[in-house]
Amino acid sequence: MSKAKEEKPNNVLLAIEDDAGIQKQLKWCFEDYQVVVAGDRETAIKELRRYEPSVVTLDLGLPPDPANATEGLRTLEEILSLAPQTKVVVVTGNDDRENAVKAIGMGAYDFYQKPIDVEILGLIIDRAFRLRALEDENQRLSLNIGEMPLDGVIASSQKMLKICRTIEKVAPTDVTTLLLGESGTGKEVLAKALHNMSPRKDKAFIAINCAAIPENLLESELFGYEKGAFTGAVKQTKGKIEYADGGTFFLDEIGDLPMALQAKLLRFLQERTIERIGGRMEIPIDVRVLCATHQDLKKLIEAGLFREDLYYRLTEITVDIPPLKERDGDVVLIARAILNRCAQKHNKAVKNFTTDALDAMTAYSWPGNIRELENKINRAVIMADGKQVSAEDLELDNELEGQSTMPFNLKEVRESAEGDVIRRAMNYAEGNVSKTAELLGVTRPTLYSLMGKYGIVEVE
Ligand SMILES: Nc1ncnc2c1ncn2[C@@H]1O[C@H](COP(=O)(O)OP(=O)(O)OP(=O)(O)O)[C@@H](O)[C@H]1O
Ligand SMILES: [Mg+2]
Repeated sequence: MSKAKEEKPNNVLLAIEDDAGIQKQLKWCFEDYQVVVAGDRETAIKELRRYEPSVVTLDLGLPPDPANATEGLRTLEEILSLAPQTKVVVVTGNDDRENAVKAIGMGAYDFYQKPIDVEILGLIIDRAFRLRALEDENQRLSLNIGEMPLDGVIASSQKMLKICRTIEKVAPTDVTTLLLGESGTGKEVLAKALHNMSPRKDKAFIAINCAAIPENLLESELFGYEKGAFTGAVKQTKGKIEYADGGTFFLDEIGDLPMALQAKLLRFLQERTIERIGGRMEIPIDVRVLCATHQDLKKLIEAGLFREDLYYRLTEITVDIPPLKERDGDVVLIARAILNRCAQKHNKAVKNFTTDALDAMTAYSWPGNIRELENKINRAVIMADGKQVSAEDLELDNELEGQSTMPFNLKEVRESAEGDVIRRAMNYAEGNVSKTAELLGVTRPTLYSLMGKYGIVEVE
């Protein structure tokens, strides 16, 4: 399937109809569209995959048993699971309101009762095409909006926008900056963004992860060594700090830097010169130092594991990166961007999330932050059957499940609040119904009926 075809809503109308006469009639009448016909479920699904029609008309009475809507409803279900954005107009028998309503409940866009009046059916179909085009456009816009306040950083929450402004302000300076944040919150992304906005952007950005390198190797990684400095030092080797000369040096997981090296690093920050292991020469180095950790350095200081003097050297500016769950609205924004990237990577036509999936992602606590979000979506894209990632595909272990996000529908909000208040009053009155009714200002019968409505049982 070509990219262009995937991105633009097409003008294909798939008419699923077993009556050859009506098939012909539809072809004639809807010449503005490319009408493709299918007479049974199997052909319909084949054509759906092939043409990706924007709109489908579906006669619910399909063979093998045209008098019965079973095959039609099954076809509808398959279409919506394979291509959920498709607008399906269900065509039913004259007196088959029940199945029409059922189909709408399953996600059909509209229904139309036979006999066919092409003019009216035409209006419904035109409207379905227009709506589909609008929805596609809307999705395209929401995917492309420039919600990238910094290079590689997607955000729209107040908290993150404030952080981005801080980064912008400190970027042109040379102050040592500490990025604090849980694992996966984007410490490295922000460090790179800072470098890319600094006057050093055309020079090296060198990162070293203090937690990933064994203690005995870390010193030579940082400072380099002279030939013969130790067994195995067969030639003079520059350290990472030296490689970063002129650019930015990023010390990741600084909380894991062993005490002995903390002293050496402190000396470097004061003198701005290094000495390779086994060397006698002081080499001046010009680097901007950034560092990051997910640990609480103050606690490490109290525990005697981190030098206080080094702490003050490193924290000329501290940027506290909030966990993902505290960034209002960012989850969905970042998730959409990741979905696009993963779909391209795996060459899959997955385009968006179901409402359930969006709710589940918003409610989830994301202990692994954006890194976890990436992993979950990557997996879901691989698993997804249709064009949408469902809550199920994401496999979020949602401890908040059922509580989900705040519904927008007023009736739902009212009902959910009502149920909560009754439960609270019940607890307050220690299960006594009369007392609860009194607290709530309703009569006992009213309370009983509300308890029935919300499935609240009386505690003995
Ligand atoms: N605001 C953001 N928008 C888009 N992608 C982001 C954002 N923040 C982080 N990412 C992505 O999330 C992943 C984790 O980010 P990064 O490596 O910067 O986090 P970290 O805090 O250094 O994590 P760790 O503690 O695991 O080292 C990366 O793949 C990064 O591209
Ligand atoms: Mg990192």
